[in-house]
Amino acid sequence: MKRSVMLALAAAVTAALFFVASSKPGAASGAGTMGNKGSATKALEATAKLESRSGSSVTGEAEFTEKKDGVEVSIQIKGAKPGTHGVHLHDKGDCSAPDASSAGGHFNPASKAHGSPTADPHHAGDFGNITVGANGTGKLKITVKGLTVAPGPNSVVGHAVVIHADTDDMKSQPAGNAGARVACGVVQAESK
Ligand code: CU
Ligand code: ZN
Repeated sequence: MKRSVMLALAAAVTAALFFVASSKPGAASGAGTMGNKGSATKALEATAKLESRSGSSVTGEAEFTEKKDGVEVSIQIKGAKPGTHGVHLHDKGDCSAPDASSAGGHFNPASKAHGSPTADPHHAGDFGNITVGANGTGKLKITVKGLTVAPGPNSVVGHAVVIHADTDDMKSQPAGNAGARVACGVVQAESK
């Protein structure tokens, strides 16, 4: 008699625990809350790890966050020479060459001329310059219209962030006369 009561109690507790576990937020609430089909799995953030090229000691990271008015690009570098350095998204997601030439030209899906990210015309991949202080570190935060993180013709994913030795003059063609490619990193989608 006692034994059967214990068993029934154990079964009830197990059922209650199962119910709690299966109704936890996140376990079953994924469907229906995100509007667009498939958006629950669509990454809206991407990152690139910047590695030294052309014999430099520049390293860093880039983060891309899709916003309503474009993509917010946040880049941090260290080990760089003080001053301003051109920054671009290059077409090919290939940083394998010692001078990063494998990354190709600037990402330019609209076939525009090189320029400033805040004026027309410019390549979609023109991010302007990053300013590096006396300690060798620099930060750049810019929101670039016309880019996406989500898949599509203007997505940043699969292209390469390149930091240059010199300043991008934002007018010389085809790349702003920014000199050697001192760091490079391929942009990869972040799955959250
Ligand atoms: Cu470049
Ligand atoms: Zn350009």
